[in-house]
Amino acid sequence: MIYSSIFEPVFMVISRLIMQHFILGIESSCDDTSAAVILDDVILSNVTATQDVHQSFGGVVPELASRAHQQNIIPVIQTAIQKANIGKNQLSAVAFTQGPGLLGSLLVGTSFAKAFSLGLNIPLIEVDHLQAHILSHFIRNKDRSNPIPEFPFLCLTVSGGHTQFIMIRDYFDMEVIGQTIDDAAGEAFDKAAKIMGLPYPGGPMIDKLAQHGDPKRFTFSKPNIPGLNFSFSGLKTSFLYFLRDELKKDSQFIEKHKYDLCASIQTTIVDMLMTKLATAMNGSLTNKGRLPDVAIAGGVSANSGLRKALENARDNFGWNIFIPPIQYSTDNAAMIAITGYFKFLKGDFGSQSAIPYARAGFEKS
Ligand code: KG4
Ligand code: ZN
Repeated sequence: MIYSSIFEPVFMVISRLIMQHFILGIESSCDDTSAAVILDDVILSNVTATQDVHQSFGGVVPELASRAHQQNIIPVIQTAIQKANIGKNQLSAVAFTQGPGLLGSLLVGTSFAKAFSLGLNIPLIEVDHLQAHILSHFIRNKDRSNPIPEFPFLCLTVSGGHTQFIMIRDYFDMEVIGQTIDDAAGEAFDKAAKIMGLPYPGGPMIDKLAQHGDPKRFTFSKPNIPGLNFSFSGLKTSFLYFLRDELKKDSQFIEKHKYDLCASIQTTIVDMLMTKLATAMNGSLTNKGRLPDVAIAGGVSANSGLRKALENARDNFGWNIFIPPIQYSTDNAAMIAITGYFKFLKGDFGSQSAIPYARAGFEKS
């Protein structure tokens, strides 16, 4: 008995480090049902079912999202395992998004992951969605040729619910050093789109229309928030009042100027992000006396204006930048699987009593 109680954990840690492991990741925090399989840190499959049902409502309807997850989850997981070309009995662990997100949506992924872990007798791994967006930078392609950031690095996380500067010292050593005091950057995009009468989701639509517009045509006032914090709610109000006044003079104003309006609002949001990013970079030399690597993560990191601005900063200031491939910018299960893999190596497993959480909380974990 003593033999097994001492050697079993040691054996398990060593086997985790030397053997290859297939991890299934499940993401269901909002309106994308996604499943992915990785072999250690190498991606094998990443399958996502998006939910068109919300389009006519101008935003995600939580009850409809939960129902759609219920319909999508089994086919999505089956497809991910098939595409990875493995059998489910080869899986070493199942990782799932525990939060933050919509409770009903999270429950679908959580319940499935718990049942899967029980049925296959494999560990269950709880993953924080925001941490996963950041760790998506460590997903390797098949030939492992893609570069990954070096610790410590700075990450600007920009999604529908969050806008944060996070200093990443290690996989699970992350500190928020600045954040929005009201709306998130994604919300600013979505609300501007809604004001213009564009369909949901607004961010990608603004990005698309902005390609054909003049970014300097209209200017909107930017708030003066000290330090590394942001505020986007004033921008929404100034955009709303500007359009209200113009529409009084010309009821066709939005239709006539939609390209320039999209380009101008996009540039304003990107400028606000980049100005603060420059401040954060200037104030944070690493202990090696160099600027930290800088990464972006979250849905808004798919924005072409932000991606271009970051590339310009690389060319002009020599920043070492990391921009996620589009499929890992917006919600996806590959990021859940890679985070699950790093937790697996630490033996950081969840339990059947795990409950989803709606609000952000990875700093407490
Ligand atoms: O990370 P994400 O997929 O979900 C959350 O965790 O919130 O982010 C969704 C947000 C939405 O606000 C969406 O409009 C925005 O990301 N987004 C974009 C683009 N693609 C997605 N915003 C601007 N340009 C894009 N291309
Ligand atoms: Zn997200």
